[in-house]
Amino acid sequence: MTCDKNLLKITQMFDEISLYYDKMNNLISFGTHRLIKKFALKNLKIEKNSYVLDLCCGTGDFTQIIGKISPKTKVIGFDNSKEMLKLAKIKNPQKVFMQGNCTNLPFGEGEFDYITIGFGLRNIEDRKKALSEIYRTLKPGGKFLHLDFGRHGLSSRIFDGIVRFLVNIVGRRCHADKNYEYLIQSKNEYPEPDELIKEFETQGFKFFKRQDFLFGAISYQIMSK
Ligand SMILES: C[S@@+](CC[C@H](N)C(=O)[O-])C[C@H]1O[C@@H](n2cnc3c(N)ncnc32)[C@H](O)[C@@H]1O
Repeated sequence: MTCDKNLLKITQMFDEISLYYDKMNNLISFGTHRLIKKFALKNLKIEKNSYVLDLCCGTGDFTQIIGKISPKTKVIGFDNSKEMLKLAKIKNPQKVFMQGNCTNLPFGEGEFDYITIGFGLRNIEDRKKALSEIYRTLKPGGKFLHLDFGRHGLSSRIFDGIVRFLVNIVGRRCHADKNYEYLIQSKNEYPEPDELIKEFETQGFKFFKRQDFLFGAISYQIMSK
């Protein structure tokens, strides 16, 4: 059976896990997720005074890193989960956050110089619609950064085992087990980077850069409009 990505269900799940989301990320990735996020965002080479939309911003990691590496940049964090956004605002009191659905962005055509999405697109039911919204709201020449799990190889299967083991130890106490089964299933159903790049190209994006981490288990792709 494929993952149910109904927006209400997904939002409820992230509302539920919001309080332990950051801690679990640190635990299951042994802290590497922050380093990879930093690395990917540095490689986006955000120019001064630009305007960035961080989609599926969650608890605001990307928003915070962008603020650090490019302090003159204006960033908006966008997510559908109120509880994740509350935590994002605590981490980034100066930044602006908005609640909404990525398949229906409340922004005009070509508003943003950069659009980022980290571990988010995988959770969206209508990926094609979200991508067309990203394309519409990006400036011509603007860049889109997508970061998520990558190839479904051995390192990805090792990751599944680590997550199941750790969630068994700590996750049961906070009823995280079913939510982290969703993480594994959605990861394994998600297209690999080669396929995703083709999907992005079908929407009109042009390939710019890709980099894989942890033997391909995580990957970012930068596309331009
Ligand atoms: C796995 S978290 C990623 C958070 C953050 N970007 C990070 O890298 O830690 C996925 C986020 O996507 C949000 N999300 C899922 N579907 C969405 C949609 N259709 N519109 C807006 N946000 C959505 C969830 O609420 C959740 O906060």
